[in-house]
Amino acid sequence: LLLAVFRKPHCFCTRTTSLFSLSQQSEKQQCVGSTSLNHTSTSTPIAPTEHDHYQVYHTPVLSRCKERMFLPQRSGSLVALSSFPGAGNTWVRHLIELVTGYYTGSFYFDGTLYNRFKGEKDYWKSGRSICVKTHESGQKEIEMFDSAILLIRNPYRSLMAEFNRKCAGHLGHATDAQWKSKWPEFVSSYAPWWASHALSWLKFGRHLLVVHYEELQRALLPQLRHITDFLNVTMTDERLLCAQTNQDGHFKRSGAQRLSFDPFTQDMRQMIDSFIHTVDQALQNRNFSGLPQEYLPR
Ligand SMILES: *[C@@H]1O[C@H](CO)[C@@H](O)[C@H](O)[C@H]1NC(C)=O
Ligand SMILES: *[C@@H]1O[C@H](CO)[C@@H](O)[C@H](O)[C@H]1NC(C)=O
Ligand SMILES: *[C@@H]1O[C@H](CO)[C@@H](O)[C@H](O)[C@H]1NC(C)=O
Repeated sequence: LLLAVFRKPHCFCTRTTSLFSLSQQSEKQQCVGSTSLNHTSTSTPIAPTEHDHYQVYHTPVLSRCKERMFLPQRSGSLVALSSFPGAGNTWVRHLIELVTGYYTGSFYFDGTLYNRFKGEKDYWKSGRSICVKTHESGQKEIEMFDSAILLIRNPYRSLMAEFNRKCAGHLGHATDAQWKSKWPEFVSSYAPWWASHALSWLKFGRHLLVVHYEELQRALLPQLRHITDFLNVTMTDERLLCAQTNQDGHFKRSGAQRLSFDPFTQDMRQMIDSFIHTVDQALQNRNFSGLPQEYLPR
């Protein structure tokens, strides 16, 4: 990532620096006129004084954002990235790799993910990746991890996303015929699993960070800070800009699906809402904040 700093009559280009905040805007007019600064070399550190004004741009140089490596030293501590299927695990893996520069691993091997995540094939217990994707919810599997990021998403959305994935792959959509035939059975087996997944990790997980998918969408950078703090990784400004610039990573299904009917029946809603209440209560019992309000449609 390069940062361009413009101030008439000069334009400087440098690696990103913490001296400038890209989100702190002031009047463009203030950049015009003053010429007290005279840097002639791009290697000169730019040191703004209190009264100087600059126009600052950043240009994404994607190659650096794409740089990844395994942990330089094998970690003795295994960290799970745990979620129910369809809760955005792939998206969060992508974000974690962007902000840390380290590969993420997987408890499974999904060939369709391997071209995006080179840690996918690594033995999950190798200690070489920053965290390990898992959807497991058994006590034994949970206790194999020293700590976990527990990613939770609105079950209504998770169920639809997972149904789409099962029917049409990571980026496709189920057909109307599939919604009409296979969906009810899918919901009756997967909705209880949405709840038991969260409940088991809350019960057996040793050291947990709970991340709500919806919070990540609403406030990406603060949430990524929580994640990197939890992972004991320093997030550099450069990496932060990588996340800001490439946050989507093409892992989301394109556009909202135009279903001509509401896939959730009254019975399904009743069941799902009661699971939402149970998980919300369990979170609060462990002193985590509860589920986002929007989980219960009104
Ligand atoms: C800027 O620095 C260059 C080289 O040191 C010098 O030749 C030039 O006169 C300076 N310009 C101003 C406006 O100070
Ligand atoms: C981060 O460091 C702390 C203190 O050394 C340690 O207790 C914790 O387990 C580490 N977290 C992870 C995810 O490794
Ligand atoms: C939650 O917080 C309360 C009050 O601070 C404390 O008494 C309780 O032990 C905590 N419970 C857990 C599970 O950490």
